[in-house]
Amino acid sequence: MLQSDRLRHPSLFDKIVPAETAAALIADGMTVGVSGFTPSGYPKKTTLALAAAIRAGRRCRINLMSGASVGPEIEDALAAVGGVTRRTPYYAASNAAMREGINRGAIAYTDVHLSHLAQHIDYGFLGPIDVAIVEAVAVTENGDLVLGPGVGNTPMFVKHAKTVIVEVNTAQPLALEGMHDIFILPRPPHRRELPIYEAGDRIGSPYLTCGLERIAAIVESDIPDRVRNLVPPTPENQRMAGNLLEFLKFEQRKGRLPSPLLPLQSGVGSIANAVLECLAKSELENLTLYSEILQDAVFTLIASGKVKQASGCAFTPSPNVMKRFLAEPELYRKSLILRPLDISNHPEVIRRLGVIAINTPLEFDVYGNANSTHTGGTMMMNGIGGSGDYMRNGYLGIFITESTAKNGAISRIVPMVAHTDHTEHDTMIFITEHGVADVRGLDPRERARVIVNNCADPRYRPLLLDYLRDAEKGGGHTPQDLAKAHAFHIRFNRTGSMDPERAPAVAFATK
Ligand code: COA
Repeated sequence: MLQSDRLRHPSLFDKIVPAETAAALIADGMTVGVSGFTPSGYPKKTTLALAAAIRAGRRCRINLMSGASVGPEIEDALAAVGGVTRRTPYYAASNAAMREGINRGAIAYTDVHLSHLAQHIDYGFLGPIDVAIVEAVAVTENGDLVLGPGVGNTPMFVKHAKTVIVEVNTAQPLALEGMHDIFILPRPPHRRELPIYEAGDRIGSPYLTCGLERIAAIVESDIPDRVRNLVPPTPENQRMAGNLLEFLKFEQRKGRLPSPLLPLQSGVGSIANAVLECLAKSELENLTLYSEILQDAVFTLIASGKVKQASGCAFTPSPNVMKRFLAEPELYRKSLILRPLDISNHPEVIRRLGVIAINTPLEFDVYGNANSTHTGGTMMMNGIGGSGDYMRNGYLGIFITESTAKNGAISRIVPMVAHTDHTEHDTMIFITEHGVADVRGLDPRERARVIVNNCADPRYRPLLLDYLRDAEKGGGHTPQDLAKAHAFHIRFNRTGSMDPERAPAVAFATK
């Protein structure tokens, strides 16, 4: 039952409606922006009610926008009933119905750099936002919103939405109040520099401006975020983290990195989290994070005193870590700052602060092109997320991953990536459990040798070296060479990374 600590103006109580009533405000063909980022701070009740109405026969297919992936109460519930026409800008493959819909072609998927979406909405590139559904911790006496743990693109959705639905979720702790720093960038030519000089600098307000009159409906919720407990680091993860640490210390000895280190960014997924867990056990001190997503490991780093300031657009505590937050909210409140996605991922700030960007690709090739999104060139895994924002603008861009996938059946170092998200022009450092390939300043042939010798699994190295010898004979850059590389790639990972539907077409192109 909502109380005055959550709804801080008496008129707000008159706006409380059942989720079904709120869902009825969403009509077929509308563009709907939802709060949240990863399974954190996203609305749940209204979309579940909408999915139930569609299942019962109502026709409603929406264009769904968010910060990044959100939870199954949106992604799976709506995709499973055919309620989504288009999904932007990121989803997570763990949402099986959305994954199936996207990969079958039933749902159009616009996979964009996450820092771009808010400004593309603001510039009018993507049409109007009909409805914003926002999960909030509380609504203030002015009708402003205390957001949950995932900010994402919520400020821009609320700025543009014709209708605002607020889900006030009592499962989200009031201790979140004060952690946000909400700032909406003006449009060019009125845009100025962002005065963030340190990861913890605040430039906005803890509240998202909305206004009492703009809130069309309030839905009460008590459904917790669906964050799963992450797996502990494997021995391979520990070796990868060890290689990363050695590399960072080497750079410090060479005078190319200061001590304490420049702010770190760490990407999504179990590998990125495991690597940060390992850093918590290292001798590195006084770390800061200027990142997008703050996963469990960040709480370990804060609790161990290694990280003083961590800035992101969402924190996603698993159930175990949420208990730690609730036991000591002040410790985390003073160390964490939650920003809109276009600020957490802003190229200007990333470049000014000199962020050390650490992300996981699906695979990378011998020349240093990296694939973060597609298995076999056509099957969408998650999306590019913020990896392009950080890797392109960071002081250092470090791709870190295991050298193989699927228990060694697939090499993640390949002759040619099946899809390119980060071209050879954007990449600098590759790390696997076997070593570090530093390709800064190298030409393609030099890169290839360093990547194969330092990063590839020894079982795949002879094959890759065979390929290189062959490619070097032919010069390596003619269309025939490219076709040969494709053909080699198909043979190379024939165990399954190539989508069988596409393989014949590529093989044909090589004739
Ligand atoms: N071919 C086929 N499948 C592959 C593969 C490859 N080359 N590499 C990984 N996979 C599979 C794994 O087997 C695993 O599948 P499973 O869940 O069925 O076992 C899945 O992809 C996830 O890979 P995993 O090795 O467990 O890594 P992860 O959880 O750390 O996720 C990415 C890796 C690439 C999926 C994830 O980091 C991502 O989505 N990156 C893109 C977005 C990004 O970088 N964001 C950063 C923003 S700041």
